[in-house]
Amino acid sequence: MPKVKKIFQAPKGMHDILPDRQPYWEKFRKAVRETAESFGFQRIDTPILEETDLFLRGTGATTDIVTKQMYNLKAKSGHCLSLRPEGTPGVVRAYLEQGMMSWPQPVKLYYFGPMFRYEQPQAGRYRQFYQIGFESLGDQRAVMDAQIIQVCLNLLKNLGLGKIIIQLNSIGCKICRPTFRRSLMDYYRYRKNRICFDCRHRLRENPLRLLDCKDEKCQQTKAQAPIAVDYLCDECRQHFKNVLEFMDELGVSYFLNNNIVRGLDYYTKTVFEFFLEEGGEKISLSSALGGGGRYDDLVEQLGGKATPAVGAALGADRIVGLICQEDLKSFSFAPKVFLVQLGEMAKRKGLRLFEELTEAGIKSAEALSRDSITAQLKIANRLGVQFTLILGQQEALEGTVAIRDMQSGVQETVRQSEIINELKKRFKK
Ligand code: HAM
Repeated sequence: MPKVKKIFQAPKGMHDILPDRQPYWEKFRKAVRETAESFGFQRIDTPILEETDLFLRGTGATTDIVTKQMYNLKAKSGHCLSLRPEGTPGVVRAYLEQGMMSWPQPVKLYYFGPMFRYEQPQAGRYRQFYQIGFESLGDQRAVMDAQIIQVCLNLLKNLGLGKIIIQLNSIGCKICRPTFRRSLMDYYRYRKNRICFDCRHRLRENPLRLLDCKDEKCQQTKAQAPIAVDYLCDECRQHFKNVLEFMDELGVSYFLNNNIVRGLDYYTKTVFEFFLEEGGEKISLSSALGGGGRYDDLVEQLGGKATPAVGAALGADRIVGLICQEDLKSFSFAPKVFLVQLGEMAKRKGLRLFEELTEAGIKSAEALSRDSITAQLKIANRLGVQFTLILGQQEALEGTVAIRDMQSGVQETVRQSEIINELKKRFKK
């Protein structure tokens, strides 16, 4: 049989993260860890595969995520498993399975890992994407909702992203939501011919999602539709008021948006989404950086005793994408010095010098395996370093190193023993 040469490609909507992008991801992971820990969240990792039923009961059997976007498979044992489309049900499963109900409450956990949704890929929307999530279980107070929002905002701020806008809403609880749902359905039932095909389906299956529709045809009808906050019971109204008070105290900019209902079924009371403010005023509503809310019934729905909870997840691919768009030079992880090494002896000496630079806290980069000076300088340029240290055969023998200012192109020779002081002096300038 003739051999057919085939070039394999990553599955549609899934991508490789190449070495040149790794520093950005590393910076992101570091910021996640530091921010999460400073707010008292502990790391949890749950399996990428879970029982399909967990998402049916957790995320919601009628949600788009479960009906259209899940990767399901049958194990040899006959068990139905799914690649997790989101992290919350897995964390709640672990909370119950690992007896975390008996730990001091609230149990505050964070996670970072790949999620899978069979979506139509586009910019910022993938079939395998990474989420960072924060979950706090066992605390019903509004301050916890505020803390979840705060930890997300803090993380985004630490990464130096622009101004973040929060869209907030409350969708009530199992006591008050049915009345809201009924009046929403009544309203839409009489306007069926003015809404899109998908919304007619939503009206039957998941009426709250009617408020989420982006189709032009539905916008006028949606604008006049009943709103959830008008139907809140006393407890939900007070809770929402408290959350808003905390937001004011924290000095957080937020907008009340009656159309934020979220695409997952477990939410109660507070729901929110994060967006990057673009051009000073316009907000891109098409791609949220993250979202979350309270889910006071989920633990019980998954077999535990009633336990209040609140959480949020941020889309790592979208955030890292934004960091990459920023100027490489303003990226604080970016090295300030690049070490060019030419020849065997220089490479050996270069290793020591590199160690010394790192020990002195000078962020440095090198490319030991690249031999030509042109290739190494190209990397230095791409990294946007301020100075390049050039260590050739002659410098290695003489105990010197050439220091090149990458902006002016001026090059001088300095003794190796003096180089740390010389660099520090130049950084000060
Ligand atoms: P979600 O809104 O479905 O919430 O996802 C959170 C974030 O993940 C989104 O705002 C977006 O940034 C990112 N994301 C979602 N789908 C994709 C995709 N296909 N490609 C790239 N990024 C994507 C949840 O998943 C909830 N579990 C959040 C939560 C935690 N609620 C309570 N606790």
